[in-house]
Amino acid sequence: MRKFIIDTDTASDDAVALVMALRQPDIDVKAITVVAGNVPLAQGLQNALYTVELCGASVPVYAGCAKPLLRNLETAQEVHGHDGMGDIGLPLQGRAPAPGHAADALRQVINANAGDITLVTLGPLTNVALALLREPELAGRVSRCFIMGGIGAGHGNVTPTAEFNIWVDPEAAKIVFESGLDITMVGWDISWQYATFDATQADEIRRLGTPLAEFVIDIQKTLTDFSMRENALAGFDLPDPITMAAAIDPSICKYERYRVDVTTGAGLARGITVVDRLGVTGREPNVNVAVSADHAAFVEMLKRAVS
Ligand code: RIB
Ligand code: CA
Repeated sequence: MRKFIIDTDTASDDAVALVMALRQPDIDVKAITVVAGNVPLAQGLQNALYTVELCGASVPVYAGCAKPLLRNLETAQEVHGHDGMGDIGLPLQGRAPAPGHAADALRQVINANAGDITLVTLGPLTNVALALLREPELAGRVSRCFIMGGIGAGHGNVTPTAEFNIWVDPEAAKIVFESGLDITMVGWDISWQYATFDATQADEIRRLGTPLAEFVIDIQKTLTDFSMRENALAGFDLPDPITMAAAIDPSICKYERYRVDVTTGAGLARGITVVDRLGVTGREPNVNVAVSADHAAFVEMLKRAVS
């Protein structure tokens, strides 16, 4: 069994990534930590708790930071829905998280499984940065850290050059990227190129007919409308699930190792993952950057998870 801890700003794509991990037979999800991002913290917490219950799993879910380290929270409810789960009327309230703060849960789980724990991050990096600030040695105790965030090459989704998770809390991302963690970054460029589903492809999954198959498609309602209208995509894309797929089976993607730095400015200088492809900075490479993915293998993994 491989041990995972997942940090998430649980909305409609995060939930699919959680299903994939929770339904993977050789993965033991030790904890889920929730951070504000797509939706306010309280809603993300309920979305994660609902998804764990739907999978019949008993994984502790912890509440973390309700806002970025230094900046005001910017949500993405226009992308995923007011409740983050497509506003389709799911009962996303009234479930109780585990006691304690997510940053402390991250520290406790990583220290209890030092050298044998994979950290997967699906939202802004506020909780992870906070844990690292409290205990910098954590970085050397995580086997691998898979981050959905940034842009490996190409355009952003919040500004022309920035991706949402990094842009929401750039200071946290800078702390994490400079921490010494063994980082594999799956940027939004991988999602829109290799993890986009048009109506036919979405229906092929939904027609598997299980409650989870219907769930993972139906909650993408708002994301589908937004992606087609604003992101010029043929349907919805699944950034967190393709990142989870890489964590479950790293051969799903191809990677190149580069120096990656995060900008913490304002406006167009906010939250950019600057990938030094030519090594012109002379700085030590610190990130395995995903440069391509196997769409068919990803779809097969997703279908197995919901069958
Ligand atoms: O930019 C995409 C990322 O931002 C995904 O993790 C999505 O869930 C949002 O958090
Ligand atoms: Ca997310």
